[in-house]
Amino acid sequence: MVKIAPSLLSADFGNLEEEIRRLEAAGADLLHLDVMDGVFVPNLTFGAPVIKELRPRSQLVFDAHLMVTNPEKMLSAIAAAGADIITVHAEAVTHLDKALDEIRSLGCRAGVSLNPATPESVLEYVLDKLDLVLVMSVNPGFGGQSFIDSQLEKIARIKEMISGYDIELEVDGGINPETAAECIKAGADILVAGTAVFSTDDYAANIKALRQN
Ligand code: DX5
Ligand code: ZN
Repeated sequence: MVKIAPSLLSADFGNLEEEIRRLEAAGADLLHLDVMDGVFVPNLTFGAPVIKELRPRSQLVFDAHLMVTNPEKMLSAIAAAGADIITVHAEAVTHLDKALDEIRSLGCRAGVSLNPATPESVLEYVLDKLDLVLVMSVNPGFGGQSFIDSQLEKIARIKEMISGYDIELEVDGGINPETAAECIKAGADILVAGTAVFSTDDYAANIKALRQN
């Protein structure tokens, strides 16, 4: 069954402890943590200190999505804060091969994210260093945007590329029950959802609606 990773970006930032408790009770599989630096993307969120405070308050898999320039500089801090998965953007890192090695050496699972315009070919020579590929189905920076349909083809192509590897395929942006169905059909293993999960108070029903396809 597809895994659901609610994005904390759409949560009440004034009450994160309660929000993550509710997400866990609602059946979330991972907690998606959108780290933004205001440079790689035009928005600023949180970093290692916040993740560190949340870590003892949740059993969920912490899925850190680094939308920052030079993510190499913060890998050790994000790992020490308690991330289980660390995903860097192919567009933001100069030495991708090296960064992926470093993430694994820090004891985390290594992910690469691709912006909508970035071709999947950048993955070709690092497949053996990857635990996760994150396809951005919106331009990163904000929740609440519309799913970019062209990414369905990319998801299917990546699914093909990673067959035979132990790599999970995650999709992030504009996920709702309709686009979730299309992503699952194309081969997604994990769906990130902000708006769709937090749209009503019934997080369990909202998560279930994304799985039921
Ligand atoms: C966007 C973030 C996403 C975002 C998704 O830059 O990476 O994780 O929270 O939000 P929705 O589900 O509202 O598109
Ligand atoms: Zn994200």
